[in-house]
Amino acid sequence: MPDTLVKPVESIVEFLSKSSPRPDFAVVLGSGVSVMEQLSNARTYMYKEVFGIGPSVEGHTGSLTIGQLNGEKESPVVAIFRGRFHLYEGHDWSVVTLPTQVVTTWGVPKLLLTNAAGGLNTGFSIGDLMVVTGYRDHLSHKEDGLVEEITSAPKSCENEFTKQIIAAGKALEGESKRPLRTGVYAALLGPSYETLAEIEMLRRLKADAVGMSTVPELLTAQKTSTIAAAVSVITNVWDDKPMGGHEEVLEASRHASTRLDALISRIVTETK
Ligand code: HPA
Repeated sequence: MPDTLVKPVESIVEFLSKSSPRPDFAVVLGSGVSVMEQLSNARTYMYKEVFGIGPSVEGHTGSLTIGQLNGEKESPVVAIFRGRFHLYEGHDWSVVTLPTQVVTTWGVPKLLLTNAAGGLNTGFSIGDLMVVTGYRDHLSHKEDGLVEEITSAPKSCENEFTKQIIAAGKALEGESKRPLRTGVYAALLGPSYETLAEIEMLRRLKADAVGMSTVPELLTAQKTSTIAAAVSVITNVWDDKPMGGHEEVLEASRHASTRLDALISRIVTETK
């Protein structure tokens, strides 16, 4: 679907605010991740109706649900964006960041970005959750080549929200019987998974996980009053075994969803 069909951000916000209250908290879900299926007083919109285009990647529903965490009057309003647009689909940066722009323009205070990522850190296990404390941007290529990109240190994205998520995750560690991970997320363009040489390079560059999204959204939110943080679902760990492909990623995401759901519920409850 061509980007020319995409609606302007202001008109999207106007459209949504006619039928839904402004959310207190927004979540963008990556491949195969499902959380907050039972919101109260909820309304669901299809992406095509909201943005003018829908996602084309398997595992991405392409719907937005806005509703309350529970039935209580003062319960926080949550927006769940199921699916995102990627640069590797041929979309423009402005389209990839459109859900985030809607969130920031509407004045939503908190945005949690989730993604499916490959583990580079050999201490990680499939199904781990990793709070992103830093990132490497291998998407916004500079015209003067790759040297700056690969010689620079990871950028930190730790903020109050990140710290809140880490604290909430630590509190849930006993229940989930799995440690919460933290680390650096490297974004590559894709759509193919990394070569072994790229894996080796990314490890040397101190990245803990690799994916194909999230960095454009983090950068977009940075300049606004919305505070953003990201959590990766580690769907595969790069080792000597061959990589399973998109099906394996979807399967691992489904298993980690239960723990992510508990983590998000806890953070949202603390928010209001
Ligand atoms: N690489 C890039 N993107 C991914 C991976 C990976 O190994 N796993 C899930 N998304």
